Amino acid sequence: MAFANQQATVYNDTVVRQFAIMTVVYGVVGMLVGVIIAAQLAWPELNLGIPWLTYGRLRPLHTNAVIFAFGGCALFATVYYVVQRTCQVRLFSDKLAAFTFWGWQVVIVAAVLSLPLGFTQGKEYAELEWPIDILITLVWVAYAVVFFGTVGTRKVKHIYVANWFFGAFIIAVAILHIVNSAAIPAGALKSYSAYAGVQDAMIQWWYGHNAVGFFLTAAFLGMMYYFIPKQAGRPVYSYRLSIVHFWALIFTYMWAGPHHLHYTALPDWTQSVGMVFSLILLAPSWGGMINGIMTLSGAWHKLRDDPILRFLIVSLSFYGMSTFEGPMMSIKTVNALSHYTDWTVGHVHSGALGWVGLVSMGSMYYLIPRLFGQKQMYSVKAIEVHFWTATIGIVIYIAAMWIAGVMQGLMWRAINADGTLTYTFVESVKATYPFYVLRLLGGLLYLSGMVIMLWNTLKTATAGRAVNVTIPAVAAHA
Ligand code: HEM
Ligand code: HEM
Repeated sequence: MAFANQQATVYNDTVVRQFAIMTVVYGVVGMLVGVIIAAQLAWPELNLGIPWLTYGRLRPLHTNAVIFAFGGCALFATVYYVVQRTCQVRLFSDKLAAFTFWGWQVVIVAAVLSLPLGFTQGKEYAELEWPIDILITLVWVAYAVVFFGTVGTRKVKHIYVANWFFGAFIIAVAILHIVNSAAIPAGALKSYSAYAGVQDAMIQWWYGHNAVGFFLTAAFLGMMYYFIPKQAGRPVYSYRLSIVHFWALIFTYMWAGPHHLHYTALPDWTQSVGMVFSLILLAPSWGGMINGIMTLSGAWHKLRDDPILRFLIVSLSFYGMSTFEGPMMSIKTVNALSHYTDWTVGHVHSGALGWVGLVSMGSMYYLIPRLFGQKQMYSVKAIEVHFWTATIGIVIYIAAMWIAGVMQGLMWRAINADGTLTYTFVESVKATYPFYVLRLLGGLLYLSGMVIMLWNTLKTATAGRAVNVTIPAVAAHA
């Protein structure tokens, strides 16, 4: 009975599994709402005259569902999975981890109910009203305690670079959320921002841009730094570059927000600061992309027959593309053309579908079989089909938006010899119609890939059983 008292220490994979499954479910839901609003832009009568289904209410439902429900659950799942493996300890607190799962689900349900009903703070990506904001804060503090508690009790001296990105993401999002959501309640579901006028706008876009920088970028880079080396079976290309990349990225992002407010009442010099920092941001962004892609050097052949690796590497190509495009759009003269047009929407979705979407899907395909004691997903062929439907969908979506965007910008500024406008606004709307239909087609393809993923996930889960991995006695490499 030598082992009678020896308790096996196991990772807490229950919470990882819960978040992973919900990532796939919310992916389908959020993208379905995206497809619905894309269809409404082509055929506005699709709101059926019902207030809850109007574009203005469904649009924030889409952005909240894809960013915070789909992206958020993917981040909770991967952060909890990675921090345990790289620190070689179980999560700091099972109870708090469970609270983050259930608390986050309540936040999502509250969003699904309150946004279509028309309750909103009117701040993009921070629409949820104050009681929900308080719950988000509680969940986030619990998340921070679980994450930093786990890092603090680690058995490995070194803190792997993915955890640096995750840590920065958790701290930055807490600060952004608390500062930007500061409001005076005027009833249970109504509040007024603590800031006024241009200060309110500045705070909002400091938040908005850093939501992109920390939620949609830094955290997913942490994911990339763990899952690409794992799936490729090779170490990160340059560890030194990953550290330089980290510090340069988080320092630079904080200053770039004013590029969302070019040609507004914001002081001109502030806009220029935003533009300069956005241009600088190209360097760390590409440093990260190169580091990820070069991790494959010497093993490029793996891309041929490993669809999961293809998801991960192609996501980085889209990351590189959108982080080249972003700095260009931040140049004031370019922004004079692109702002208010569908070019911005194209940029957003090359980052969102191409980078955030594909890197999350690749990481989930790595995780899900392991969480159910399987060697691989139920159907590898289905991963392959998903990859191609998603990639073709993205290309159709963003190409349609680029063409539409540049066309709109040029039509709005075209002037006749006598100084009158060449086109009325409605003429530009009419000219955009075919591109809205094309975007819908791209969105449908992307959504169908996600539905295939849901089917594959359910098949994998039912073929296997929930397993919580035991921590190896000898610390293995992250
Ligand atoms: C099937 C996939 C998707 C479709 C069809 C779709 C469609 C749309 C549409 C029609 C809009 C409104 C554009 C406008 O107001 O002119 C939009 C906005 C947005 N979507 Fe998606 N979307 C999809 C997936 C995603 C994903 C996965 C993400 C993030 C991870 C995302 C993030 C956003 C954001 C941030 C906006 C606001 C853009 C802005 O304000 O400029 N979308 N989407
Ligand atoms: C170097 C990196 C980047 C820079 C400098 C940058 C810059 C910009 C600029 C100039 C705009 C247009 C602002 C406007 O005219 O209103 C914009 C919009 C946006 N970008 Fe980026 N971008 C970068 C990377 C990304 C990535 C990787 C993503 C997504 C994962 C992303 C998501 C967004 C979103 C959601 C918006 C729309 C905001 C809104 O109006 O609602 N960006 N970005």
